[in-house]
Amino acid sequence: MEALKNKILNEGTVIGSEILKVDSFLNHQIDIKLLNEIGQEFKKRFAKNEITKILTVEASGIGIACIVAQYFNNIPVVFAKKHDSTTMDNNAYEAEVFSFTKNKKYKVRTSKKYINKEDKILIIDDFLANGNAALGLIKITRQAEASIVGVGIVIEKAFQNGRECIENEGIKVESLAIIKSLIDNKVVFK
Ligand code: G4P
Repeated sequence: MEALKNKILNEGTVIGSEILKVDSFLNHQIDIKLLNEIGQEFKKRFAKNEITKILTVEASGIGIACIVAQYFNNIPVVFAKKHDSTTMDNNAYEAEVFSFTKNKKYKVRTSKKYINKEDKILIIDDFLANGNAALGLIKITRQAEASIVGVGIVIEKAFQNGRECIENEGIKVESLAIIKSLIDNKVVFK
């Protein structure tokens, strides 16, 4: 997706050789025009699929998923919660996720009320690195016996193995910008 690639080249900053910071349009300030184009592009890529809900994980996934959902007939967005909260339903699906970026484990939880076996789920997230967040959402969807239509990612880092892990589960991955390397502060697309 050209507009996204240009935005990454113009505004992204590289940290070390593995992290791309995109706070000016995706992870802190949000570019709504670009998110609408992202929504249209996901709609194109999953045009042939019936989708009943979008599943994502807090925090950055939520804004993206909400705009994307508008291009899929305003279907509901469900986000997995990462933090314990007194208002969280105890009757929940749960999966453990290991974050390489943060070097720690956390749990993702979704109330059983909001995903059921009739659902056809599109998983949406901002980044695909090692795939652990997406795999957590896949586990939750499978616990609910819902079907998974695919995983839609805004920025994939192809030098990490997230895509392989998800495809090994038999699930389609669609990424809008695929980064081959981030060496010497340079973003190289695949
Ligand atoms: P994984 O899910 O693909 O295995 O990735 P990992 O555990 O390494 O990533 C943990 C967090 O860091 C996720 O966000 C993920 O989206 C984000 N992340 C991974 N690589 C990059 C990168 O190159 N740049 C940026 N900006 N983020 C990256 P999170 O902790 O869940 O954050 P948030 O959604 O709460 O903001």
